[in-house]
Amino acid sequence: MDKLIINGSRPLRGEVKISGMKNAALPILFATIVANDVCTIENVPPIGDIHATLRILRTMGAQIEYEDETTVRIDTRGVRQGTSPDEIVSTLRGSTYLLGAELGRFSRTHVGVSGGCLLGARPIDMHLYGFRKLGAQVSDDGSFVSAYAADGLRGTKIVFDKVSVGATCNMLLAACTAEGETVIDNAAREPHVVDLAGFLNTCGAQIKGAGTSTIKIKGVPALHGCRYEVIPDMIEAGTYMVAAAATGGEVTLRGVIPKHMETVTEKLREMGIGVVEHWDSDSMTVTGRPSFRSARIETQAYPGFPTDMHPQFAVLFSIAQGASTITEHVWPNRFRYTEELKKMGAAITVENNCAFFVNVMKLRGARVVATDLRAGAALVIAALAAEGQSEIVSVDNIRRGYVDIVGKLRSLGADIALVEE
Ligand code: UD1
Repeated sequence: MDKLIINGSRPLRGEVKISGMKNAALPILFATIVANDVCTIENVPPIGDIHATLRILRTMGAQIEYEDETTVRIDTRGVRQGTSPDEIVSTLRGSTYLLGAELGRFSRTHVGVSGGCLLGARPIDMHLYGFRKLGAQVSDDGSFVSAYAADGLRGTKIVFDKVSVGATCNMLLAACTAEGETVIDNAAREPHVVDLAGFLNTCGAQIKGAGTSTIKIKGVPALHGCRYEVIPDMIEAGTYMVAAAATGGEVTLRGVIPKHMETVTEKLREMGIGVVEHWDSDSMTVTGRPSFRSARIETQAYPGFPTDMHPQFAVLFSIAQGASTITEHVWPNRFRYTEELKKMGAAITVENNCAFFVNVMKLRGARVVATDLRAGAALVIAALAAEGQSEIVSVDNIRRGYVDIVGKLRSLGADIALVEE
């Protein structure tokens, strides 16, 4: 049981390199099953969820070698359908992508229920609707999901009634080798959907329109291996931007795509925090201010404000001048972290899917629990900004999604240590 010890009130200063995006790397790693060949994936973040995914692939028969710390060579020719280990599948949400990947390769799937952050109910009805539209017989008994298309999957029109990243990615995985053309309407437009489509196209798929709400997939008989680089993690980047702002420091992020950060950048500017985009060098500089204004956010699917940045902004809203509001439309129950922030002195009231913030002059150090990944990131930021010492437990929740957060923050001048409890 490790914990983080943070002595706060030190402005972060310096440069930080942003790692590959967790939520893009996960579907791409599962997509190597559909490629049924050797794929080399670069910029894979060495984090808990990725290690779990590679263990799943290895158990299923994939040969995996590291070229270096972030480049993985995966040969999936020996993967056997229906052999995913339930005990690992149940620890991460990304394992839902096994359904689409097995269907795309074998026209058949049988996978245990996935896990991941406790953000409230995480249904997969839209995924199953799409698989049925593609011609699969689907059953879900609450412990396992099974699907089978005796004559192979067939292209079709899939109209989603809401926007889902996971369901859109699963349709790309299943439909890229289906017979005929598939059209997905009301598709998610997230950069990680575009990245998955980019990977599959590099493997020989014919996917058009990723990044818009209508995606067209012309089925091909088979894919092949390729070399592909995962995009930078816009949520990791946003987390360091907010950390710079909350501590009144100045941080330059290296290796980012500023376009992906636009809603976060604009919200920080609206609050009076300096953000400069250096378009020529894939970098951005965030300059904190001694005080900044309150604001309101409503989370939405991309290009709206990302739900995975909401807890981090809750820290800024706790110390901003005036009253702020967060309305959460994607995961209405992801407010458990507010009880932890309150232990640090924050003044927050939660009603249904809204949180109301009244500013306090300063947060103070406390012992708090990282209840989920982004909640954990928010508590780290709060501890960096707070007066005195904080202890954060359940650190594994943070390590699931942030590469070397202790090393990166130390290089920016933070007083942070990981200790065994
Ligand atoms: C992914 C990310 C997660 C992020 C989320 C939104 C991974 C592993 N996780 O989650 O970090 O918070 O995108 O950017 O990549 N929904 C349904 N039925 C479904 C599927 C989804 O009702 O079948 C609803 C969900 O309850 C939620 C909304 O759609 O309210 C969005 O969910 P979705 O985009 O699917 O999120 P994930 O892919 O699970």
